[in-house]
Amino acid sequence: MTTLTPILTKFWDHPQSWTMATYEDNEGYTALRQALKTDPADLIQATKDSGLRGRGGAGFPTGMKWGFLPPPDGGPRYLVVNADESEPGTCKDIPLLMAAPHFLIEGVAITSFAIGCNHAFIYLRGEVVHVYRRLMRAVEEAYAAGYLGKDILGTGFDLDVTVHAGAGAYICGEETALLDSLEGRRGQPRLKPPFPAVAGLYARPTVVNNVESIASVPAIIKQGAEWFSDMGTEKSQGFGIFSLSGHVKNPGQYEAPLGITLRELLDMAGGMRDPGHPLKFWTPGGSSTPIFTDEHLDVPLDFESVAANGSMLGTRALQIFDDTVSVVRAVSRWTDFYMHESCGKCTPCREGTWWLAQILQRIERGQGTPEDIDKLVDICDNILGRAFCALGDGATSPITSAVKYFREEFEAGCHTPAAELFPPAASTLF
Ligand code: NAI
Repeated sequence: MTTLTPILTKFWDHPQSWTMATYEDNEGYTALRQALKTDPADLIQATKDSGLRGRGGAGFPTGMKWGFLPPPDGGPRYLVVNADESEPGTCKDIPLLMAAPHFLIEGVAITSFAIGCNHAFIYLRGEVVHVYRRLMRAVEEAYAAGYLGKDILGTGFDLDVTVHAGAGAYICGEETALLDSLEGRRGQPRLKPPFPAVAGLYARPTVVNNVESIASVPAIIKQGAEWFSDMGTEKSQGFGIFSLSGHVKNPGQYEAPLGITLRELLDMAGGMRDPGHPLKFWTPGGSSTPIFTDEHLDVPLDFESVAANGSMLGTRALQIFDDTVSVVRAVSRWTDFYMHESCGKCTPCREGTWWLAQILQRIERGQGTPEDIDKLVDICDNILGRAFCALGDGATSPITSAVKYFREEFEAGCHTPAAELFPPAASTLF
């Protein structure tokens, strides 16, 4: 039985968990003191050895990404933290920033020292004004304590941190759209390569990492790469925050080694909200990842096992739906979201998500045609792999997987509205 490993979530129940005083009482900033006495190359190596993989969804090895930066040329290089958490169901970075923002700030300082950056940016989702205030306050505390600013802890290392709030566009979580937005332009993805590591912010070498990835760095530096890599599975090492939402008794954040199963997490979360209504479907990593069903309760939630079962670990946003929910309605709402958030730069995503939304709304109303289901799948096939960035691919995932597991519900949409089959009043979701 896997147990919880509270590290980033360790003192979230403290009444003043977000303050510098609480963080320092919990050995906060000791990893930074240690890091500043270490050769930056050794910090990068420790992060590589730990096996930490990007916690923003794609799972790219963090230390390897740092290692992609070209050798110093005298010009600036940047760290940009992607705090634009917006994937439907994803709700781990924002709670972490509210509950304990100093994990991120300490991680930013260590990472910046490791990669030779003197100006780091935290790009925060625009809607979360309360998080912006909390993060700004924490950054001010860190400057006042000498952990940021000039000559940090007398080591000669300088670091400024700028917190920037976006304007509420999902696409700005895509790393290159984020960089465009940070530079003051309309947020749209750039062609890759070049990857940001080579030409990122202001065309300078830039590391873009997710909040949870950077917040995990202090613990790795303090306790060692082996401590971290001993957790999790062979290729998906360490711990992560699993966010349970939906029809579950105790929704929230469960920090556990990668490889834990939904069955185990549900046990910890008190089970389904209403025992009379069993699990019907769920997302392993937000709505951009193919849905799973009750067949997948024992799939280890690590990058490889989830992929081997046809989905993606993504952001570990486990949205749980019981049998009161219409899968057609759920997929239709997600598709409305992707249509609205498509930046419009590429045709497959801009036009395709619109067509998908029209067909799904028709099926949801019970006015679908027998050809509609094949048309849905065909449009998805034409978006997948042809869109400019991951948004288009992600938009197809819930649709194709829902048709695979619940085709009969889509067929029923040729004659009966979803609202009749699954009265919305019976379900508090969708
Ligand atoms: P990606 O796989 O293209 O890239 C992952 C990271 O590795 C990027 O930082 C990229 O620059 C870097 N990288 C990859 N190959 C590289 C190379 N050869 N050289 C240098 N760097 C390289 O994935 P992407 O598009 O960044 O992210 C997609 C994921 O984002 C999805 O899987 C989804 O789960 C997640 N996502 C998360 C959201 C959130 O709210 N956290 C929102 C939407 C999607």
